[in-house]
Amino acid sequence: MADQVKTIGVLTSGGDAPGMNAAIRAVVRTAIARGLKVKGIERGYMGLLHEDIKDMQTRDVSDIIQKGGTILGTARCPEFAKLEVQQKGADICRKHGIDGLVVIGGDGSYRGAQALARLGINAVGLPGTIDLDISCTDYTIGFDTAVNTAMEAIDKVRDTSSSHERCSIIEVMGRNAGYIALWCGIANGAEDILIPEEYDYNEQTIINHIIAKRKIGKKHHIIINAEGIGHSNSMAKRIEAATGMETRATILGHMQRGGSPTCKDRYYASVMGAYAVDLLIQGKTKRVVAYKAGEFVDFDIEEALAMQKEIPAYSLEVSKLLSL
Ligand code: ADP
Ligand code: F6P
Repeated sequence: MADQVKTIGVLTSGGDAPGMNAAIRAVVRTAIARGLKVKGIERGYMGLLHEDIKDMQTRDVSDIIQKGGTILGTARCPEFAKLEVQQKGADICRKHGIDGLVVIGGDGSYRGAQALARLGINAVGLPGTIDLDISCTDYTIGFDTAVNTAMEAIDKVRDTSSSHERCSIIEVMGRNAGYIALWCGIANGAEDILIPEEYDYNEQTIINHIIAKRKIGKKHHIIINAEGIGHSNSMAKRIEAATGMETRATILGHMQRGGSPTCKDRYYASVMGAYAVDLLIQGKTKRVVAYKAGEFVDFDIEEALAMQKEIPAYSLEVSKLLSL
């Protein structure tokens, strides 16, 4: 049996997400409570390569559970996809005595963790992304806060849209994934939801929809557009020209990534952080923590990365029914 892990490193990587701090806090405190040492690695794989590594004690994670962002910082480090760079990362872990690593991030970050695990560093991934686009899990850290932030912002736009009898295109985050758009589309009662997974780029359908809704007395027309489709400003101009309905675009942008995490994000991130440490203590490596069918579970990273996730077709159908 492998030697028991003695020192756990923790890093956040890729786009930040509210709840990452709760996960860091849980990793640090669970590890210390179980008699291990913890090292915080700043700015993801970039900080690992620069050896921006510090010892962490229980008090270092005081007063952070309610804070958005990540106290460790995060970064994108494209060179970490190269084998020689990954080898350097693994050597640095060894140099600092890090024999277990918790990586909090999305699919890309999991690939880095997978590479380090292959090079002998026990590694576990936690799903940290506002996009909900990790196939093996029904929940990702930050999604709940992000959709609630977006939902509140869209409610505000809707007020003014109704007063002025306008069409509003509201762009939400999600470069490759339409989960934020879908959830807000339903929660905000949008007339149209455009998501990268299914949009056919036929604007005439939207235009016809607006004209039809106006005829039955709708005062506004809310379109939730996912970032992956984008072009909200030019779309607004074309829609206004074609329908005669004043149209404005609002791009919510990075405000969706910030702010104090919801109770759900704090709770799930805390349990997942502890779970990751316990996996490492059990001698498990190359695993990712997930929430599936009402339970916290774990999968092999490779298996998790090979899984596919689809936008729920029934929810999409419902979104269309309810915009009548
Ligand atoms: P996310 O983790 O949210 O999916 P990215 O795709 O930007 O975000 O990935 C975050 C980081 O993970 C990258 O900047 C890089 O450091 C690392 N990463 C991404 N892809 C790979 C890969 N194929 N191999 C090793 N590391 C990777
Ligand atoms: O992955 C989270 C996310 O917010 C995506 O929705 C978005 O496409 C991307 O990150 C934006 O990244 P950046 O912070 O580099 O603009």
